[in-house]
Order: sequence, then structure tokens, then C-alpha cells
Amino acid sequence: MAVIFSGIQPSGNLTLGNYLGALRNFTKMQEQNECYYCVVNQHAITVHQDPALLHRRTRELAAIYLAAGLDPEKAALFVQSEVPQHAQLGWIMTTLSYVGELERMTQYKDKAAKQGDSIPAGLLTYPPLMAADILLYQTNFVPVGDDQKQHLEITRDLAQRFNRLYQEEVFTIPEIYLGQGGTRVMSLQEPTKKMSKSDDNTMATIYVLDAPKDIEKKIKRAQTDSENSVHYDAETKPGIANLMDIYAAVTDTDHAAVEREFSGQGYGQFKKSVAAAVIAALEPIQKRYAELIDNPVLDAILDQGAVKARETASRTYDKVVQVMGLDRK
Ligand code: TYM
Repeated sequence: MAVIFSGIQPSGNLTLGNYLGALRNFTKMQEQNECYYCVVNQHAITVHQDPALLHRRTRELAAIYLAAGLDPEKAALFVQSEVPQHAQLGWIMTTLSYVGELERMTQYKDKAAKQGDSIPAGLLTYPPLMAADILLYQTNFVPVGDDQKQHLEITRDLAQRFNRLYQEEVFTIPEIYLGQGGTRVMSLQEPTKKMSKSDDNTMATIYVLDAPKDIEKKIKRAQTDSENSVHYDAETKPGIANLMDIYAAVTDTDHAAVEREFSGQGYGQFKKSVAAAVIAALEPIQKRYAELIDNPVLDAILDQGAVKARETASRTYDKVVQVMGLDRK
């Protein structure tokens, strides 16, 4: 049985990209593995968050995890700030990191560029905290979207650096797990950049909780090209390629089959089918979400998840403290 860890930031409404790239794989993996899934609220505060909004989004994200099929009997679901070992090991990982390697992270460069002269230091030290999240559980596989590859690489580097420095195999070296399809869902309006929770243009993003009519509208207005022929070419037809990727991911098929299905049909018909397939995939999640969001059972599940997570995390953390000489007795 392998150990699985992953996390999602409660920094905005969950997108179709988050669902296809990450969340739907979480539920598949819970059947045969020991799984830990986290609402990483301490990562979200690397940029300013309104407290009331952060509070609400934390709960909403936990409800979406469950609505998407996460079973609390099989997987631990918890909030990062309720397991103090994350921040504790995060600091230790920060002391092990080099400024140069952190400055090379593309997500840091992108986010820092938007902050003007006052770049929060937490944006720079985000990867060591993420490494701590993963390493605390002796994780074997981390299901994430394509944009997290670099963060996974530095996690592996830090784990190896620690083990080498203290001459003990304290940390398991984790591997990235990329699912089949949907690992990089692109913006509907600018299909050369990724779909993101924080995009100001809401027409660019499908949210997991979007009403069906909004999903139809967004897909209908999605950027395409003037060729009116459904075939896959990510270079010259990024908009259509993205819609084909989305359709293939939600219907569990591949590009070749999508091309065959829509051969001879124009973009209007294709977009209607994509919208219908996305709505069909999201509707059951939305129904379960509505039942869960105000239900006290959600708190019980998060409490129970935090107990389990603290138990596992403290085992690793105690070992780290001992190996480093940070213990007193
Ligand atoms: P976050 O919150 O930005 O995104 C959550 C997950 O969704 C994936 N994702 C996408 N997949 C496909 N297409 C997209 N357009 C798309 N946008 C996002 C992300 O790859 C991610 O898997 N650093 C992480 C959060 C984190 C974490 C962790 C993840 C903190 N600690 C430990 C794994 C393990 C992040 O910002 O994800």
C-alpha cells in the first residue's frame, strides 16, 4: 500500500482545472492506498487573504473534496493549520533551501512579478512548506497537475539533501503522479495560459460550482480559430485543442476518438457537446456539495482527519527533531 498526499489552496473558487488535474485522481487513489488530502490554507496566505473569505473558502473546499467522492473512511481530509507539524517542518525545510533555487521557481517569478516592490517572503519560501506537507507523511506519490512539477522536484531535492546531511533515511523520496489527461487545462479566453482560480476574467474559467447555463455560456464564447474543423493541434489551434482535452478528460477518452466523433461537424455543435459533457460531470458533485456545505458532519470529518494527520505527521517530525539535535532530553 502506497502513501498518497496532496493539497489544494483555498485561495479562490475551485476550477475545472483543479478537478481534472488533481481532485478526480484523489478519489481514484483512495481505494488502494493510504491517503492524506489537505486544504492548504497556510499556503493561501502567501498572498493576502480576507479572513472571512478564507474561512468560508476553507469550508467550501473541504465540502467539494467530499462531494467529488472522497471517502473519509478511506482517506484523511484535514486543514493544514490544524496540524502544526506542517509549519514546524516547513521552517526546517526553509533552513535547508538555497535562495537561488527558490528564486528559480517559475511560480515564484510569476507571482512575485505581480507584487511590485513589496514581495512577501512567503512567496519565496512556499516550496519548502510544500515539501514539508509531503514529507511529513512519508509520501510515495503526489497527484497534482502539470504546473506542480517544479515544486515536486525541489521537494525531492530537499528530502535527499536532508537524508544525506544527517546520514539517515528519514524521508521517503516522493514521486509526482500525473493522471491521464486534464493535467493542464487552459484558459478559455487565452488558451496558451493555464486556467486559474485567480484569473480576473471569469469567462476564462469554469468553476466546479458554476451553474449549467454559465458553463454553456463560457464554452460557447471560448476562443477558437476560423477553421471550423475539430482536430488536435496544440500549436496552431490551442483553443480547440483545450476543448478537446477537456472533452476527452470528462468522457474518459482520447483525442483520436474525439476527432472521429466530431468529424464533419462545426464548432457550434462541438461546443454544445463539450458543455453537456462538462455539466454532466459536475452536476452530481454540485448536488452533493449542496447537501454537505451546512452539514455539521463536515466538521466531524475534518476533526477526525486532523487527528489522523497529526498522529502520522508527529511520528516523522519527532524523528527529524531527534536526528537534528533539536530535542533537549
Ligand atoms: P493549487 O491550489 O493551485 O491547485 C490544486 C491542484 O490543481 C492543479 N491545477 C491544475 N491542473 C490542471 N489544469 C489546471 N489549469 C490546473 N490548475 C491547477 C494543481 O496542479 C494542483 O494539483 N502548490 C499547490 C498546493 C499544495 C500542494 C502541497 C500540492 C501545497 N502543498 C503538497 C500537493 C502536495 C497549489 O498551488 O495547488
